[in-house]
Amino acid sequence: MDYQSILNTIEQKLDKRNCKGKVAAYIPELAKVPADKLGMHLYCINSGHYSFGDSNEKFSIQSISKVFTLALAIRFVGDKLWDRVDVEPSGDPFNSLTQLEYENGIPRNPFINAGALVVADVLVTHLENPKKELLDFVRQLCEDDTIDYDERIAKSEAASGYRNVALMNYMKSFENINNDVDEVLDFYYHQCSLAMSCKELAKAFMVFANAGKQLSTGKRILGKQKVKRMNALMQTCGFYDEAGEFSFKVGLPGKSGVGGGIVAVHPQQYSVAVWSPMLNEKGNSELGMDALEELTTLTGLSIF
Ligand code: DON
Repeated sequence: MDYQSILNTIEQKLDKRNCKGKVAAYIPELAKVPADKLGMHLYCINSGHYSFGDSNEKFSIQSISKVFTLALAIRFVGDKLWDRVDVEPSGDPFNSLTQLEYENGIPRNPFINAGALVVADVLVTHLENPKKELLDFVRQLCEDDTIDYDERIAKSEAASGYRNVALMNYMKSFENINNDVDEVLDFYYHQCSLAMSCKELAKAFMVFANAGKQLSTGKRILGKQKVKRMNALMQTCGFYDEAGEFSFKVGLPGKSGVGGGIVAVHPQQYSVAVWSPMLNEKGNSELGMDALEELTTLTGLSIF
């Protein structure tokens, strides 16, 4: 498979000028990112890696971080996590509060904000220094010690995160948050502020394409069953109320973030990250989705 020529074709086909998407503005620092950034990077399980555009430029990974925190949390609490977070698609926007009321403070899944906040609460309980240990984990996956939080982004979200404050307090009223609300929010805003490039994200997500093992060393990071479950959750819940559309068009497990990044994996084949900050109405990168649809069409490789 000539992945580089397929990526070149995708780059040519993507039409920035006719993109109707908008850069996320509800986190003020994110609104400053130039709308026309575009990059893509693919790591293949057995034949190197390929890219185009701004694939080496770091951006705010936002909700993509929910995959890293879930992986860490299930290491500590295993199946007990599912008493506090469900595994069903929500069909609602990522920051929705409504289902929590009639579902007794149990979030539908770990990738909507409510679910990710419960996962953050689990990590604050179990880790001595959650920010450092999350960073160590992501650095290990990328084999790169320069990965870091972007304090400006974390601060900016903390100053405007009214919805997340509401979600936290609401879930605390159902006794589904055990720690101090502000402490958990501070951790959550930092995880979302992680700054990574497409190249780094694709490399980190290789663990989900490679049955839980680090590609370069063969070291086991996650058990096979855990990887199966993480991929299943990415498939069914990774794109909120657009999870069906992403499955329909792309046919891969994946996760998006409001920074404009999307990562997707094809188990036993490749992991791929794309970045374009212009978001559609559901908060997912418009050109990112187009790029991945082209990828699975041109390669003929999706999980379906
Ligand atoms: O909590 C928030 O609203 C953001 N830090 C993350 C949201 C996000 O990335 C949703 N993804 N598409």
